[in-house]
Amino acid sequence: HSLRKVASANDFLIGASVSSIPFLKDEKYRQVLKDEFNLLTIENDMKFAKIHPQRDTYNFVIPDLIIDFALENDMKVRGHTLVWHATLPDWIKDRKYSKEELTLILKDHIQTVVRHYKGKIYAWDVVNEAYNDDGTLRENIWLQTIGPQYIELAFKWAHEADPNALLFYNDYSNEGINVKSNAIFELVRDLKERGVPIDGVGFQMHSSITYSKDYKKIKENFARYKEIGVEVQVTEMDVKIQHSNESYKKRLEQQADMYAKTLNVCLSSSNCNAFITWGILDKYSWIPGFTGNKDAPLLFDNEYKPKPSHESIYNELRSK
Ligand code: G3I
Repeated sequence: HSLRKVASANDFLIGASVSSIPFLKDEKYRQVLKDEFNLLTIENDMKFAKIHPQRDTYNFVIPDLIIDFALENDMKVRGHTLVWHATLPDWIKDRKYSKEELTLILKDHIQTVVRHYKGKIYAWDVVNEAYNDDGTLRENIWLQTIGPQYIELAFKWAHEADPNALLFYNDYSNEGINVKSNAIFELVRDLKERGVPIDGVGFQMHSSITYSKDYKKIKENFARYKEIGVEVQVTEMDVKIQHSNESYKKRLEQQADMYAKTLNVCLSSSNCNAFITWGILDKYSWIPGFTGNKDAPLLFDNEYKPKPSHESIYNELRSK
């Protein structure tokens, strides 16, 4: 029951994010990755602090290894992420730059990274999480120093460096219809109208069985992007099962249901062609480290055994 086989047969992209520590040390991890998925996103190692740790130093070693693995195994790669407020190196965080200087730094960063991977990265998360939940722009160093035009500049620079890569805006809590998703839609529509190179919007979809989703609204949201010629992808899905009084078995079923229904919205939207989970197996998920609680948010358990969520995704892909 390989997800990859059934997805590839339908020209659909099924992906997972890759964490470098298990990737490097665990043969089984690499095996499951290539057997089950036809796309990967590198979870951390292409973030600014990792790939550009000093002003004059880029570190491509780990991303190169993972991307070579992907291409050898005929998998697509999403690049994550060029412009974000988090995981910045000290040389950016701890210094004050003028607008001119920071603009040059960001341009050099984007173009050096995108050029290094030209032809190898199928889609980039160019700008990540630029909006607050109330629909205003997030006060990050890029907004404060460069101004709101940092967003369109980032897309233009990335496009210059690799005109064939698809360019995405990526965020969370933007899947339904709400002030945040409306603000993002207006941004994307405006960029498209003015000819700024943007191809798609990523919906991270970090979820929990204790927060229900309005799938009709998600579908509606995906559809409005189709009208303006923009692709959508589910880019970082996981489903937390903590904070529930149900039995473990029941929680895994609810989780499986949430994955399947979300995937169903994607499969039934003609502009949605990729579904990516934020990790492969529960053991290496970012969630316990973040919430401080045990969890089981992914498709495989700690022993690489497929969970009910794996089966529900498989069935959904097969019924496409
Ligand atoms: O590798 C160090 C380790 O040496 C050290 O002992 C340990 C102590 O804190 O930290 C380890 O690094 C952590 C790294 O994950 C690897 O586990 C960082 O502190 C931690 O901040 C980092 O968190 C990542 C987070 O983004 C911030 O970059 C998560 O793994 C990653 O899953 C998460 O991913 C984000 C997406 O990029 C954007 N969307 C939301 C998503 C979830 O927050």
